[in-house]
Amino acid sequence: MEHLIQRNVPLDQYTTLHVGGVADYFATVGNMAELKEALRFAKQAEVPIFILGGGSNVLVPDEGFSGLVIHMNIKGRDYSVVGDTYHLVVGAGELLDDVVEETVEKNLWGLENLSSIPGTVGAIPVQNVGAYGVEVSSVIISVDAINIKTFEEKKFSNDECQFLYRDSFFKSAPGKEWCITFVTLALTTHHSPQLTYADLALHDSTVSTPRTVRTLVQNIRSQKFPNWKEVGTAGSFFKNPIISALEFETLKLQYAGIPGYVQHDGMVKVSLGYILDKVCGLKGFCEGTVCLYEKQALVLVAHGGATATDIKNFSMSIKEKVYLKTKIKIECEVLFL
Ligand code: EPU
Repeated sequence: MEHLIQRNVPLDQYTTLHVGGVADYFATVGNMAELKEALRFAKQAEVPIFILGGGSNVLVPDEGFSGLVIHMNIKGRDYSVVGDTYHLVVGAGELLDDVVEETVEKNLWGLENLSSIPGTVGAIPVQNVGAYGVEVSSVIISVDAINIKTFEEKKFSNDECQFLYRDSFFKSAPGKEWCITFVTLALTTHHSPQLTYADLALHDSTVSTPRTVRTLVQNIRSQKFPNWKEVGTAGSFFKNPIISALEFETLKLQYAGIPGYVQHDGMVKVSLGYILDKVCGLKGFCEGTVCLYEKQALVLVAHGGATATDIKNFSMSIKEKVYLKTKIKIECEVLFL
């Protein structure tokens, strides 16, 4: 136990925004036994738990966390052939991009559009990670998780995960009681590129393997996203808002070019990057050392010296500016610990 549970661990080194205070208790868990030991410790000490993966989508406050941070490090990639698909069971602590690289190397289709996304596999179902026309919910078969209060172990089917745009059961209050341990994915050897995203559709004729798609995505991303190893960032900081068709038509009268995507229920998902950039003129806008990235306004960047409070205040100021201009209430995609 003494080796597993550390005291007073600074969390800024564990997140890609590189800000935030100290965790009272911290445990890196590499297998189910260690995870259960950490959960038992938190129960006995009566402290709250926070599960940390790659730290690429979380804002840790400057005051830190008065509880136990469980740093998920369960590894494992287990392939099996089931009919004409490959099932891949992945440990929650695996880096997503390492898994994408391996599947692409094996010529399996399914994850290639999700190339170059930072973070770990345990986080991908939580916010239904998506990019370039693919949401991870389309390849998830099931999610294994353990209840952090009762220690019950359960396999959630795809339906039970209740996936929506950047949302799932695991973001709800009852869902937050579950710690994801393994994710089972369905991949295929059948030629099945997903090229609906405009920048990819251009290359339709040249796509022959998952590798071609991965390389295209890597090139697009390197032009739009800052290098998280060099600057504090968490990818898109806000969600693209989903508004009514009427609100969208009204916006379009004023801003004809605004991109919108009709959802299953008739609502329209609008590109906040466009609104921040072309409607509000905020691309590259800074307050102190926190800015909207000059190449993609939906991405917040925190330069050296920024605190979590600076980032939070900046995000509130952006929300207000968008509301004043468009009457749209935007939400953060990044999770506030
Ligand atoms: N746009 C601008 N100016 C900008 C940014 C965007 O005009 O500064 C326009 C673009 O030209 C485009 C539209 O807005 O017409 C959408 O931009 P983009 O294709 O870059 O995608 P996004 O909607 O801003 C989403 C995801 C990203 C994902 C990309 C690519 C969300 C919140 N973000 O961004 O996901 O990589 O699509 O599929 O849904 C993340 O979630 O952290 C993330 C990076």
